[in-house]
Amino acid sequence: MTETTAEQTETFAPPEQFAADANVKADEYERAEADYLSFWAEQSRELVDWNEDFGEVLDWTNPPFAKWFVGGKLNVAFNCLDRHVIAGNGDRVAINFEGEPGDSRSFTYAQLLAEVSKTANTLTELGVKAGDRVAIYLPMIPEAIISMLACARLGAAHSVVFGGFSSDALRSRIIDAEARVVITADGSYRRTKPTSLKPAVDEALSHGDTPVEHVLVVKRTGQDIDWVDGRDQWWEQSVGQASDQHECEFFDSENPLFILYTSGTTGKPKGILHTTGGYLTQVLYSMKAVFDAKPETDVFWCTADVGWVTGHSYVTYGPLAAGMTQVVYEGTPDTPHQGRWWEIVEKYKVTTLYAAPTAIRTCMKWGEEVPGKYDLTSLRLLGSVGEPINPEAWRWYHRVIGGERCPIVDTWWQTETGAHMIAPLPGVLSTKPGSSQRPIPGISVDVVDDSGENPAGPEGGLLVIRRPWPSMLRGIWKDPERFKETYWSRFEDTYFAGDGARRDDDGDIWFLGRVDDVMNVSGHRLSTAEIESSLVAHPKVTEAAVVGAADETSGQAVVAFVIIANGVEDSPETAEELRQHVGKDIGPIAKPKKVHIVTDLPKTRSGKIMRRLLKDVAENREVGNTMTLADSSVMETIEKSVAKS
Ligand code: WT7
Repeated sequence: MTETTAEQTETFAPPEQFAADANVKADEYERAEADYLSFWAEQSRELVDWNEDFGEVLDWTNPPFAKWFVGGKLNVAFNCLDRHVIAGNGDRVAINFEGEPGDSRSFTYAQLLAEVSKTANTLTELGVKAGDRVAIYLPMIPEAIISMLACARLGAAHSVVFGGFSSDALRSRIIDAEARVVITADGSYRRTKPTSLKPAVDEALSHGDTPVEHVLVVKRTGQDIDWVDGRDQWWEQSVGQASDQHECEFFDSENPLFILYTSGTTGKPKGILHTTGGYLTQVLYSMKAVFDAKPETDVFWCTADVGWVTGHSYVTYGPLAAGMTQVVYEGTPDTPHQGRWWEIVEKYKVTTLYAAPTAIRTCMKWGEEVPGKYDLTSLRLLGSVGEPINPEAWRWYHRVIGGERCPIVDTWWQTETGAHMIAPLPGVLSTKPGSSQRPIPGISVDVVDDSGENPAGPEGGLLVIRRPWPSMLRGIWKDPERFKETYWSRFEDTYFAGDGARRDDDGDIWFLGRVDDVMNVSGHRLSTAEIESSLVAHPKVTEAAVVGAADETSGQAVVAFVIIANGVEDSPETAEELRQHVGKDIGPIAKPKKVHIVTDLPKTRSGKIMRRLLKDVAENREVGNTMTLADSSVMETIEKSVAKS
């Protein structure tokens, strides 16, 4: 049959010692399934420090609005810091920070607690109270993690905005979340050059339509920046002078922890809301079960930026709540040379590495002699996240990086799910290149056909989540209707993830990509509609259609088809101008790889753009069925324009 069928038969059993020492054994699946609510209650009481115990495990009387661990009280920052210090582990290194230019800093748990306490005291000075929102727009430096924990300590929700997003993206997120304070830096280092951040904040706040009262600025690059007296404060000064003693309060298990904006099928990003008790429970359980966390001996490194959910759950909250020593790296994998990541693994003796397939494919391209120069024998477990990992990249990761001794956990989850949902338990299952395999214990998923009533056939179907789970999103910020409509309306009382998937003969799950208008570029989620509205907002564009075309390195690449206004020149310069416009409007990651100027777009009789046909063109395939087009000659014209551009 297909190539993947042959590959499915090849599996990799966990090394004997790894299996023997694993935190979680095979019986866990059955135990969890016997009574999933008791299972989660048990995990929560074991892994989380509750200041006041909860009563009911799950309140699902008003679906899809869930309440987990009802009535319990906790403080997430206390769980990440104080409890480790109280347990006598204050001298353990929490963060080994490696700056892109080569500077490094380490924080023990006791030192990190002191920094977070000072920051919490500073934010209190600035008027931040429980229930408020704080926007964080920082590079990957320790202050990003410290800021997030300081908010959590105060019971204020953070909204981290990825440093690569534009001032417009920042502004709309600040307004939607009604943030009172922004924490930023003068700039950051990207491929050895200082790039600026503060000017984007100034620009975002210059319209006078945000509720922001204060801006706290970390000095990272020392570059010149503008200053607004009364509004702006240097972190070094304010936090530097604050007391390092802070007694924390304990909040309800459903108190908001963060809002994180992610792209959906419409132009407006959704503010995904997460709360504390359930989120921390599942994040900690995944640290224990999927990452087999051994806090005394492991050195954990998740390469994601805190601007994405992976950085929230597996840089800030998971590793710290689990009491791990972790590495935080500011820069890109090839600065100043292509062996930088492997040099870091060697330097800090990293045991657990968690990265995206795009990065692995890029390293593959650079050649195996690059990692070959470093000692990678400290590694014992590898993780993959963000997009399907192709079997070839999986094997390379396993052989070249893992020395054939490290299990690979391919973890499927989403901003909305908060923590791992589908991933192999590394000491239990024999892993299979390219498959995420099974839901973790306590989670129930299905792959169904279009009606939602039958299991999908061998060709695959839609992934759904059958039951509520502790770290599930609690809603879309200020938009309960959109929450219901997006995730819970396609199938009743069942969460619709937006991913295509299939099961093989062993029942293992393989992901097939998104089934909606969401693209996945280098593991980052982008919306076709958002990029289309950005293009159409340019005066030279009258209509635009965007597709995600298969790309060897980045998984998908953004390809745009635009109709330009009368009198505008059809030239490579115009196309380039439009690419740059999207980069500036949304952020560099959204910049189309190609902009094709065309005279018409394929539409159905009802006027709906048929992106499927454009995708065929972008992927150099024969164009599919054009029967439903209002004008069937359109595709020929488009193919001609594309061939000439
Ligand atoms: C979408 C979620 C999960 C954190 C990073 C992305 C895709 C994610 C996998 C995987 C296949 C994956 C899905 C999902 N995805 N992990 N292991 N295998 N696909 O979070 O930005 O919310 O994107 O990423 O399509 O729906 P996100």
